[in-house]
Amino acid sequence: MSPAPARLGLYVHWPYCARICPYCDFNVYKAAHAQPEALLAAMLDDLTHWRERLGPRTIHSVHFGGGTPSLMEPAAIAAILEHADSLFGLAPGCEIGLEANPMEHKRFAGIASAGVERMSLGVQALDDASLTRLGRDHDARTGLQALESAQNLFKRVSLDLIYAREHQTPDDWRTELETALGFGTGHMSLYQLTIEPGTAFERKLKRGALAPPTDDAAADMYALTQSVCAEAGLPSYEISNHARSRRDQSVHNRLYWEGEDWIGIGPGAHSRTGGFDTGGREGAAAQLRPEAYIKGVAAGDAHEREQLDAEAELTERLLMGIRLTEEGLDLDRLFARTGLGPDPGGLERMTAQTLITHMGSRLVLTEYGRAFADHVAEALIPDFDA
Ligand SMILES: C[S@@+](CC[C@H](N)C(=O)[O-])C[C@H]1O[C@@H](n2cnc3c(N)ncnc32)[C@H](O)[C@@H]1O
Ligand code: SF4
Repeated sequence: MSPAPARLGLYVHWPYCARICPYCDFNVYKAAHAQPEALLAAMLDDLTHWRERLGPRTIHSVHFGGGTPSLMEPAAIAAILEHADSLFGLAPGCEIGLEANPMEHKRFAGIASAGVERMSLGVQALDDASLTRLGRDHDARTGLQALESAQNLFKRVSLDLIYAREHQTPDDWRTELETALGFGTGHMSLYQLTIEPGTAFERKLKRGALAPPTDDAAADMYALTQSVCAEAGLPSYEISNHARSRRDQSVHNRLYWEGEDWIGIGPGAHSRTGGFDTGGREGAAAQLRPEAYIKGVAAGDAHEREQLDAEAELTERLLMGIRLTEEGLDLDRLFARTGLGPDPGGLERMTAQTLITHMGSRLVLTEYGRAFADHVAEALIPDFDA
């Protein structure tokens, strides 16, 4: 079976934040040191280079991520969208999404007029004490003000919350989640707090000054997230993402989970293009630091590129695809894309442990298995050295 041609997404990384949050390990830099004009010029040139490299393609989603892309000037957002449209063409109904920090709510009207139609808002928590502990610079009132403004201005709104925070019990989380569901957004991204290496939270944890909930309490919070959201009509469609309907789901994130093609512009942005059927999949990662990226674009070497062999491609597709909780991973499609399949022993073990179930050619995590998605994917990756 020959796979359908891949859809193409564009990721735009705006790396600046007003303040760096103590839990965050994204590729971020303080906005005080920003060079926004030089970065925008480099991103536009980078996009031109991508068009020369890929040839004619149509873009199905554009996602402004970060960092804090709500700090971008609306004219810069519009310039990127116009350039993408003139080089590639934006498909009818192309999703145009942007991640926003509530602190930037006064800029939302400008961002909407620049062409953004979907906003995901980093509300993170609904009470002041938790927001302070997360090192956020917005308070609960600003979070709600930003949400109201987003709901008035954008066709689609998603809310980000972080749970399994210090001092949070499963009961606290249930109450907060029910309040958040009452706001009526069509989409919520609910992330369990992870203590990332190299962050201020990791240093705090090491010196005994941070006490996140136990693994058992965090697992309880994950399970109740699934049931409370499903009951409220926002079931998960991915491990941490919940939507009211298919239309509310993120088109752009689905491209990643389904292993379609995407190109990234901006410091540290990743790209994946092509596949087994088109002579191999290429991965690219842009220079991390904004200055290095700007110089790299001028010199024509902003991206480090690698050819992924079928084994690397299978590994990525397994890790990403198994996260789709409704439709799971299509093994026929996996084979068509990579010429390979999952490890038969791992498949048997994961099925026997009731972590996955088979639905025709699809492998779907069971409700119990959802908490162990990475473990399941690892077990399904064949031992290529054996
Ligand atoms: C780029 S940020 C969203 C926009 C903006 N920068 C903000 O924070 O408001 C993407 C999301 O990742 C989540 N996130 C970042 N680091 C995390 C961590 N260590 N654990 C859990 N969630 C995290 C937060 O919920 C955040 O909203
Ligand atoms: S969580 Fe958002 S605002 Fe905070 S540092 Fe990370 S990207 Fe910036």
